[in-house]
Amino acid sequence: MIVQPKFRGFICTTSHPLGCSAHVKRQIDYVRGQKAFTGPKNVLIIGASTGYGLASRIATAFGAGAKTLGVFYERPASGNRTATPGWYNTAAFEREAHKAGLYAVSINGDAFSNQIKQQAIDTIKADLGKIDLVVYSLAAPRRVDPITNEIYTSVLKPIGRAFTSKTVDFHSGEVSTVTIETAAEEEIAATVKVMGGEDWQLWIEALLENGVLADGCTALAYSYIGPEITHAVYRSGTIGKAKEHLEATAQKLNRTLAKINGRAYVSVNKAVVTQASAAIPVVPLYASLLFKVMKEKKIHEGCIEQIYRLFTQKLTATGAQTDSEGRIRLDDWEMRPDVQEQVVELWEQVNSGNIAEISDLAAFRTEFFNLFGFEFPEVDYAQDVDVAVAIPSIDG
Ligand code: NAI
Repeated sequence: MIVQPKFRGFICTTSHPLGCSAHVKRQIDYVRGQKAFTGPKNVLIIGASTGYGLASRIATAFGAGAKTLGVFYERPASGNRTATPGWYNTAAFEREAHKAGLYAVSINGDAFSNQIKQQAIDTIKADLGKIDLVVYSLAAPRRVDPITNEIYTSVLKPIGRAFTSKTVDFHSGEVSTVTIETAAEEEIAATVKVMGGEDWQLWIEALLENGVLADGCTALAYSYIGPEITHAVYRSGTIGKAKEHLEATAQKLNRTLAKINGRAYVSVNKAVVTQASAAIPVVPLYASLLFKVMKEKKIHEGCIEQIYRLFTQKLTATGAQTDSEGRIRLDDWEMRPDVQEQVVELWEQVNSGNIAEISDLAAFRTEFFNLFGFEFPEVDYAQDVDVAVAIPSIDG
C-alpha cells in the first residue's frame, strides 16, 4: 500500500517501513563512522525500539560488538494498518545486526509484567548466560501493577499551582499560550508508579535473583532535568517527581548490586525529539529554540550522538563521570550557561510571526516526521510498500 503520514493530535497513526529502516541505518552509519569502543558484551535494553533505548542498542551493538536483547511494546501491521515505528525500527535493526554477524533478539510485550521479565530471563539463560549492561529506557503512559493488577496512568502536569506558558503547535507554527492545571495527589502518585524507579528495581532484582547478571554489571536508566522554562511542567511537575524517584532508586540499586560488584547509574540526557518528548506541552517550543542555538554552536546532538558520547566519554570501561549526586550528565552541553542564556533571550521574543526565523522548528518537525519514517529523501513515498514486515527473531 501507499503509506502517508496521518495525524491525530500529536500522534502520527501511520509509519513507513522503508523510512523507519532509513532512520535506523542513519544511526548505524553514524556509529560505524566513529571509532569502535571497548564496551559491554551482553546487553539487555528495556524500551529498545525507539528513542534513547534504540540508540543504546545501536551504539553498543555496532560500536562495541555487543549481543543485544531488546524488550519493547510495539504493534505489528494488520490489514491496512501499518505497524508502529518501533516495530519497523527493530525489524531493520535486527536485519542489519544479523548481516553483521551480531546476535540480536527481541521480545515484544509489556515490560511491566512478570511474564515478560521471565521471558527475558529465560532468553538470557538460553542464549547469553549473563548480562553485563541493563539499559532501562521506558517511556510509558500507563502501567498495570504486576501484583494488584491496578492500572496507573501518568500525567504531565505542574504541582501546586496551574502553569501558564508559551507553547507551539509544531505542525502550524502557531505560538500560543497554554495553561496546564495542577495535578491531583493521586495523579502525582500514579506518575511516579509508571515512570519512577519501582519497575526498574523489579527488573534488576528479578535478573539478580535468577543469576543472569555478570560480576561488575551496570544498570543504567535515563532522566531529564532541563531549564527553568520547562521546570513547572517537567522537573518540578509530576514527571519530575517520577524522575526523582528513579534517581533515588539508582542509589538503592547500588546497594543491591554491590553483591556482584555492580553499579547503577542514571544518565541525565539532553532534550531530543522522540514520541515521548513531543507529547509534553511547552517542550517542543523550548527544543526548537535549543536546537537553533546548539546547531549554531556546533554542539547539537540527537539520540545516537548522545549515546555514543555516553559510552565513549562518560560511562566507559574505566568508570563513570558523575555529578555530586552520582548522575551522569549528558545534558552538560544543553545546560551550558551560554546556551541557556541565548535560549531564554529567544524564548522572550518568540511568536508566530518570527518562529520560523529565530527557532529551528522546521528541523523539529522534520525529526518528528522521521520518527515515523517520513521525510527521508532516499524513500519514494509514492511507491507501494509491503507493510507486513517481520522482525526476524519474533516472526522467524
Ligand atoms: P520513546 O517513546 O522513544 O521510547 C519508549 C520505549 O519504551 C519504546 O521502546 C517503547 O516500545 C517502550 N515501551 C513503552 N511502554 C512499554 C511497555 N509497557 N512495555 C515495554 N516497552 C514499553 O522514549 P524516549 O524519549 O527515548 O524515552 C526513554 C527514556 O529517556 C525515558 O526515561 C525518558 O524520560 C528519557 N529521556 C528522554 C528525553 C527526550 O528528550 N526524549 C530527554 C532525557 C531523558
